[in-house]
Amino acid sequence: MDKLIIEGGRPLHGEITISGAKNAALPILCAGLLAETPLTLTGVPALRDVSSTLKLLDTMGVKVTRDGDAVTLDASDVASFEATYEMVKTMRASILVLGPLLARFGTARVSLPGGCAIGSRPVDLHIKGLQAMGAAIHITHGYIQASTLHLPNRRLQGAKYYMDLVTVTGTENLMMAAALAQGTTVLENAAKEPEVVDLAECLNKMGAKITGAGTDAITIHGVERLSGASHHIVCDRIEAGTYMVAAAMTGGNVTLNNARPDLLEAVIEKLREAGAEVAHTANTITVKSNGKLKAVNIRTAPHPAFPTDMQAQFMAMNTVAEGVSTVHETIFENRFMHVQELQRMGANIEVQGNTALVKGIDRLDGANVMATDLRASAGLVLAGLVASDETVIDRIYHLDRGYEQLEEKLTKLGAKVRRSH
Ligand code: UD1
Repeated sequence: MDKLIIEGGRPLHGEITISGAKNAALPILCAGLLAETPLTLTGVPALRDVSSTLKLLDTMGVKVTRDGDAVTLDASDVASFEATYEMVKTMRASILVLGPLLARFGTARVSLPGGCAIGSRPVDLHIKGLQAMGAAIHITHGYIQASTLHLPNRRLQGAKYYMDLVTVTGTENLMMAAALAQGTTVLENAAKEPEVVDLAECLNKMGAKITGAGTDAITIHGVERLSGASHHIVCDRIEAGTYMVAAAMTGGNVTLNNARPDLLEAVIEKLREAGAEVAHTANTITVKSNGKLKAVNIRTAPHPAFPTDMQAQFMAMNTVAEGVSTVHETIFENRFMHVQELQRMGANIEVQGNTALVKGIDRLDGANVMATDLRASAGLVLAGLVASDETVIDRIYHLDRGYEQLEEKLTKLGAKVRRSH
């Protein structure tokens, strides 16, 4: 199994380019199922989750062409409407095919995702939303079996649906389904994440009529058919945020190209509070620091508040910052898997429920640690960059799910990182 070996203690300097957002690419690739003519996407990152999604679409009969960061999807001849357990268990985001399949073909069979490392992560709101649009849904043998065959014209019916809690992929699934429904759907308490906005922009280019994406009420006037279009995937704010923390922790000076400061306000504010200098233009961000940071309190919440996907990285930063901080996770019940690994590097962290109390120490020690989920692994990489000696991170396939060319980008910035097979 691949390991990442990091020799800590080198400030990062220079420029890198941020990739397209994983969490925008995955739903938008699934939106390809909605179009009767080819959809062309650019800025698609080369990540394991992207390959898994393309494989899933391929099993359904979508013709996939990939050339660098460009992907063309031709869903004119879809023959299977199923996402198997084997697919969904490797990538929960496979659930995003449910809305498109049901809306366009009137039938879908998608495995229930089950739990994962960071919590139970149910999909009940995806299901309830589709039921509110008239879908008949049965859960049998671990599969969601959905149909619209009993509905007028076999089409989902527009509905007003209030989501009990803010769900990103839930909002996306329902937005895609509603795009081809008969009548108007209003999604209330919708997720406001930039990736939801990017999906809505792509769907509108395909002929959908969606307004309000980026607010908590999204209105979708259903249309009869959607066609292909061209769309460039928004940049990855979490990848950008991770490198920003790396620059701050190592006492470096790093400029990120293809980064959107307007999507990272809560992160930028916290980095400044910690003592890093952050400058930006409309699509670049520069972070400079002398490496002496103050601990900052973090509370994760849906966008535009502080993102849960940046929690592990800020936890790593706080372990070597001056002072005591609290890190409060409100989105996932078990997203502190990185704590035990950081403790193995000498970090002083106490967890009580969904709050961690972090007491800053002078220096982490390099150690053998294990990646447990995508963002926890990112936190360990950051810890390794400032730790003494060598840090060996095992199970880095998690990182390959979400960070394009991680070693290459870190090496370009002066880090000493290598992969061992
Ligand atoms: C997405 C992101 C993930 C991010 C998360 C929160 C993608 C592919 N993944 O995940 O990186 O960490 O948003 O910003 O975009 N919930 C329910 N019932 C549902 C749906 C969700 O109870 O039907 C709960 C979840 O268990 C969780 C919370 O709602 O506690 C938020 O989850 P959600 O926003 O749905 O996360 P994902 O969309 O899976």
